[in-house]
Amino acid sequence: MKTPPYNLQEEKMVLDPEKIKKDFPILNRKIHGKPLVYLDNAATTQKPLAVIEAIHHYYLNENSNIHRGVHTLSEQATLAYEGAREKIRAFIGAKETSEIIFVRGATEGINLIAQTYGRKFIGSGDEIVISTLEHHSNIVPWQILCEQVGAKLRVIPINDKGELLIEDLKKIINAKTKLMGITHVSNALGTIVPLKEIIKIAHEQNIPVVVDGAQAIPHLKVNVQELDADFYLFSGHKVYGPTGIGVVYGKKNFLEIMPPYQGGGDMISSVTFEKTEYNILPFKFEAGTPHIAGAIGLGVALDYLKTLDLEKVALYENELLSYALEKSSEMADLQIIGQSVDRAGVISFNLAQLHAHDVGTVLDRHGIAIRAGHHCAMPLMKRLGLEATCRVSFAVYNTKEDVDSLFKALQKTLEVLG
Ligand code: ALA
Repeated sequence: MKTPPYNLQEEKMVLDPEKIKKDFPILNRKIHGKPLVYLDNAATTQKPLAVIEAIHHYYLNENSNIHRGVHTLSEQATLAYEGAREKIRAFIGAKETSEIIFVRGATEGINLIAQTYGRKFIGSGDEIVISTLEHHSNIVPWQILCEQVGAKLRVIPINDKGELLIEDLKKIINAKTKLMGITHVSNALGTIVPLKEIIKIAHEQNIPVVVDGAQAIPHLKVNVQELDADFYLFSGHKVYGPTGIGVVYGKKNFLEIMPPYQGGGDMISSVTFEKTEYNILPFKFEAGTPHIAGAIGLGVALDYLKTLDLEKVALYENELLSYALEKSSEMADLQIIGQSVDRAGVISFNLAQLHAHDVGTVLDRHGIAIRAGHHCAMPLMKRLGLEATCRVSFAVYNTKEDVDSLFKALQKTLEVLG
């Protein structure tokens, strides 16, 4: 049997976007007869061949259940799955693999924390602080918790550029604040939140911080220990990995005192009809058969990113962003939404008086994929006085030519609809 293609060589490559593009087979596709220009990466990223092959290899050669089997396949699958956990630990700079929990995605991660930590440690009259920038997945789970336990949601406001008002945060938190849920990077505007400063402010009041890192992990070098985040979570599919897999990082001292999320196989150490003893970390939080192939695929996706070097990736995506912002400033009818000084590769905009969905639909006819709508951030849209925006979001395989194609197509859109 061939060696499993689960561990990519860690040789650093020169960042060559044209070469990188070739690693992503789907980018060869034509859409409506035009070459695909994929600019919807904040929704989901495309997958490199290495990830596709690893999943393929797993199902062809090693598919079996983990942790339970005494047979070869089960041992190999367990090694690959636990190997992926270690890769994730190293990638985000966590102290121990027992602090890495596999979940379905960032959304499930936030729900897990709300329903375990939240249900146990937050009660009537307590407050949970979030921000105006949050995705619905970092709003609704806290609202559900508030309804269950009688707590209240408080919201950090933003300025018109889409930046958090830190001075207001200091006024919002008080003795009743029991938890903060905050995004690292806004999915709708690209704002990079000054996380280290915010976490420090929260910790001065003993408030644990849950970070939604879904939009940060693909673009920024994240070290959870340097940030001192209590919980940090992200989805695999936004970082070149498969859908249906994600990660919750939690500091061990928190995870240990939290009750389990779901009951079932693998999360127990012993069961009688009278009483169940739970398994050690991280298995206490992984009931049932997990997405084994997904975890392996995510490990390979992170290997792939490491070969590119995240610092180089961040610089390159910044260059693309500046190039696109410069082009937008030349287009009088294009209004950029969100002007944060510190931002990741996202541009939200509206074109003349056109509806974002119409713009998105016409761009698709040119082979260009963007997202149009409220970006699962309706309260943010309301704060900005908008129903929807068009959103372009970059990944490492995008090029300046992609940006040129976008602006050519936007010009044509104006001619057709304007
Ligand atoms: N959260 C994803 C987005 O921003 C779906 O598009």
